[in-house]
Amino acid sequence: MNQKSLEEALNSFMFEYKGIYFYTGSTTPEIIDSLEHMEIRDSDVFLVTYPKSGTIWTQQVLNLIMHERHRNGLEHIDNMTRAPWIEYNLHNDAFNSRQSPRLFTSHLPYYLMPKDLRFKRAKIIYVYRNPKDVLVSFYHFHKLYQKLEVTLEWETFLGLFLSGRVLHGSWFDHIKGWYTHKEDYNILFMTYEELKKDLRSAVIKICNFLDIKLNDDAVDTVVDKSSFKNMKQDPLANYKFISEKFLDFEKGEFLRKGTIGDWKNRMTVAQNEKFDKVYMEKMKDLPIKFFWDIN
Ligand code: A3P
Repeated sequence: MNQKSLEEALNSFMFEYKGIYFYTGSTTPEIIDSLEHMEIRDSDVFLVTYPKSGTIWTQQVLNLIMHERHRNGLEHIDNMTRAPWIEYNLHNDAFNSRQSPRLFTSHLPYYLMPKDLRFKRAKIIYVYRNPKDVLVSFYHFHKLYQKLEVTLEWETFLGLFLSGRVLHGSWFDHIKGWYTHKEDYNILFMTYEELKKDLRSAVIKICNFLDIKLNDDAVDTVVDKSSFKNMKQDPLANYKFISEKFLDFEKGEFLRKGTIGDWKNRMTVAQNEKFDKVYMEKMKDLPIKFFWDIN
């Protein structure tokens, strides 16, 4: 398998628009452009991530925090219906008819998000993860794509990820863009690792940001229902409801391992050095140190 054939296979189900690769058939350039004028309410909450950074996990946390009936098991709305991706409106949802507070999800870079987000008090939670774990998670996730009809070669995928020629583009650009424009938004940055190390504290931090007061029992319920084990068995949260037309769940699951540092099981010393070199180059201007920089 040479790089071209994997790249060709990827290109057969993604298209590039304004510097980002999107899933073909699930959105269009017109839809992406229309989002610029999406009407925003002060009460809106947006979850923004680069893929494989803990999106569906944080969706579950937010859904449980914001909706008592979800917390108490009194409603049966799956997390994608509750917190739809604005760029992949798979159910043709009329976003404007939704009741407040609305919860949305997006993998978009800051410059393609609704412009009104800069002028309203709507809140954004941006979740990011060690990019080496993102890469490994993304690699395994690609095995599920029904349309990927070639062998997924690890080293080739690593190269495509580093150069941003994968769905949703460059991890580096995504985080750099959002981080350097953070003053424009009402935004909370959180890490996957933070959720993993102390989910209860992370839940409380999110509640504080959203100005939602939950008692201790309610916080315990959020934490319990968001555990890896419970989410894996929860049909409203485990994403097995995605059509088999897109994903082959015989080959894997959204909830795969749910650990920190799985990259160490996959990357060779040389691959790690190659990654670090690109990382240093791309991130050198960013005025923050990430916790994984030191190691
Ligand atoms: P792994 O592939 O490393 O296991 P996304 O939702 O952005 O696609 O991210 C998917 C990643 O988040 C997967 O990582 C998945 O296992 C992990 N994940 C999902 N729910 C989780 C949970 N409750 N606890 C820990 N990790 C979780």
